[in-house]
This record gives sequence, C-alpha cells and structure tokens, in this order.
Amino acid sequence: MTTVVGGIGTSHVPAVGAAIDHGKQDEPYWRPYFEKIQPAREWMAAQQPDVCIVVYNDHASAFSLQLIPTFALGVAAEFQPADEGYGPRQVPTVQGHPELAWHIAESLIGDEFDITIANEMDVDHGLTVPLSVMFGEPDAWPCRVIPICVNVIQYPPPSGKRCLSLGRAIRRALDSYAGSDADSLKVAVFGTGGMSHQLQGERAGLVNAEFDLAFMDELVAEPDTGCLRPHTAYIREAGSEGIELVMWFVMRGVLDDEVDEVFRMHHVPTSNTGNGLLILQNARGRAARRSRGPSGP
Ligand code: DHB
Ligand code: FE
Repeated sequence: MTTVVGGIGTSHVPAVGAAIDHGKQDEPYWRPYFEKIQPAREWMAAQQPDVCIVVYNDHASAFSLQLIPTFALGVAAEFQPADEGYGPRQVPTVQGHPELAWHIAESLIGDEFDITIANEMDVDHGLTVPLSVMFGEPDAWPCRVIPICVNVIQYPPPSGKRCLSLGRAIRRALDSYAGSDADSLKVAVFGTGGMSHQLQGERAGLVNAEFDLAFMDELVAEPDTGCLRPHTAYIREAGSEGIELVMWFVMRGVLDDEVDEVFRMHHVPTSNTGNGLLILQNARGRAARRSRGPSGP
C-alpha cells in the first residue's frame, strides 16, 4: 500500500525547458510565468514524494512511426534524456523504480490493461519539462520516476475514458503494492501535455483559454463526463495538439473521486501554447473513497 500525495496536470512546453536551461527565468517574457508557478513548486517541495508516475507523450523521440505503443510503461532502472535534434537537455538522468513498475505492469495486465513494457526508453521534453516545472534545476531529481508514455501523436489516440480507466487501474495497482518499501512510499502522479495549442497549419498559434479553464473545471468535478469528449472536439476547441490533454485523465483516475483543488494557474504566452498547471489532492476528511471494484490479481 502506498500513499498518493497528489496529482499534477501540467503543460510540457519545450520553450519552458529552454528558458530554465539557459537562465532566462528573470527575463520580462518569462518572469510572469515562473512567478505564477512558484507556489506549485513550494507545494511539491513540501510533499517530498518518493516516486512520481509521469504520464506523458513521446514526440517521435523514443518511438518512430515504425512502432507506436498506445500505452508504454517504463520498468528500467534509469531513463536518459532524449536527443530531440539539438542534443539531450542537460538535466539529470531519470531514476526509475523497477520494483514498483513491474508490480504495476503485473497488476495492470491482470486487470485487462495490456500495456507495453519498456525496458529502455529515452524520455523527451514531454517528461523532462514537467519535472523542471515542478522541481527546478536540482543536481539529481529528488524522486524516482515511473514513465508512462501515451500515444497522442499518430491517429487513433486512446479516448479520455480509456485514460481515466487506466488511471483507476494504476490506483488499484498502487493500493495492492507490497514491495520492500511499500509501507512508507509516497507517490505523486503527473498528467502532462496540452493545454490548447496547434503547432501547424492554418490555425497554428491557436490558444483557447476559455476551453482550457472549462476543461480543468470538468476534470476536477466531473471526470466521468469530461472524459467522454470526442477527439474531434479537442481538435476543434483546443487545436490539433490539444489532444495531449487526454493524459490528464490518467492522473485524475489515480486520485479519489472527491478531490480538493490546491493550485491552479493558466498563463499565456509561453511559446504558442495555453500553459496550465493544476494540483489536486484526495479530499481530506473522507474515511473511504468510493469502491472501484475488485483489485487485480
Ligand atoms: C510545443 C511542443 C509541444 O510538444 C507542446 O506540447 C507544446 C508546444 C512547441 O514546440 O512549442
Ligand atoms: Fe507536446
């Protein structure tokens, strides 16, 4: 059994990583964004999670169009920052948690979630930028990381509903973990990507802040309704890359049905993306969360 200390929804804009890596955080363009996220970093520093499960998408870095897993779970001892064409980001190597990751694999597959198992997987800005957003620039990341990679690059991506179900199955796995460090293990879960953005075509530069905020409202209060939004609605309302937001439903599924919103930020501009950051915690003062059916094997 582990403790889920919270869920973080965050954009993974590469320019944010570059601003951190090149010391631009105090420049006029960037300062407002970094000031806004400071309380989120303080929240994270106070939680001290042992493990972060980071649900992210690869942008044709580790996987090419030759091989496209819908869901891939990283079980390796470490994951290297990917070279996305201009050399790997100079950020720490990501340390995995093979014992917990293999337990999650066994539990998910026993629970009829047949994820791909990745023994080697370089991690691109989709994973490393959210770590930089929440942890800044440490010499080593302060926790272990289990990467869960979701295909939102090549049609057809998984539905929001499937992503919410995956999160709930991951929660069942966490609840049944009995590994050597199980008693004291604190876990945070990230859902990353989005918010509204379109990087190409006639509508390149599209940002829809109204949609982004409504998305967050629904994710918090009515995930079982919000998850039913079709892919075409993401494209119409949030641009062609807005589909990355389905990954936030995995995060939401790991949490209890009732959550408290402890932090929310939406900022424009950072590059050409509606940049959101949302932190949720299981609602305090509740004896038990609603049962979600049988645990896996
Ligand atoms: C950009 C790339 C992304 O993968 C993303 O999610 C948002 C923005 C970009 O290149 O600006
Ligand atoms: Fe992206």
